[in-house]
Amino acid sequence: MVRITFIGHSAFKIDGEAGSILIDPFITGNPSAKVSDLKVDDILVSHAHGDHLGDSIEISRKTGAKITAIFELANYCGEKGVKAQGVNIGGKVPFDWGNAYWLPAAHSSGTPDGKYGGEPASILVNIDGKSIYHAGDTGLHYDMKMIGGFYKPEIALLPIGGFYTMGIPEAVEAARWLEVKKVIPMHYNTFPAIKSDPEEFKAEINSIGKECIVLNPGESIEI
Ligand code: NI
Ligand code: MN
Repeated sequence: MVRITFIGHSAFKIDGEAGSILIDPFITGNPSAKVSDLKVDDILVSHAHGDHLGDSIEISRKTGAKITAIFELANYCGEKGVKAQGVNIGGKVPFDWGNAYWLPAAHSSGTPDGKYGGEPASILVNIDGKSIYHAGDTGLHYDMKMIGGFYKPEIALLPIGGFYTMGIPEAVEAARWLEVKKVIPMHYNTFPAIKSDPEEFKAEINSIGKECIVLNPGESIEI
């Protein structure tokens, strides 16, 4: 059993038998963030933007959890004095709790001080026999078809807010291409620019025979 908790925006906590993970832990300055327990083994970051790198460095400093991110972003974190490992697109990264892949995303990635943060990424997490795909910040891109066909995730966390990322129509197509059974919407309604209706998304996802789980910040599901 794996528990997926929505912290808010694109931040999730994933708890499995063998470990706990944070993805894109944007908490400070996130008006929607709800979080109670930050005890984690690993922090996985999709790209360098402030609403994804978020509190990673502070949490790592406090808990000792290692940050894993694309090489340039990991170097940035390492320079701040925390444990960070740099990875790149497509390599299998082993962890005590399973493994993960940083995969393509169609976006950009600059660090808070304006430097190049390396390639933006999506993250596929394999934990306790479950495969969870966090799409990161992205537009619709055709690699999602490859990810669906080859990596076969069972659940996808997809941005639906538009403006900086996919909106609802693109995220519905992404769910098709990823061939997932279940989706959770993310990256919407945190700020006015990314206003979107998760119930509209849910109806569209249901209409193509898939399950959509709309989580309020602080809520979890078990898969
Ligand atoms: Ni971004
Ligand atoms: Mn973002």
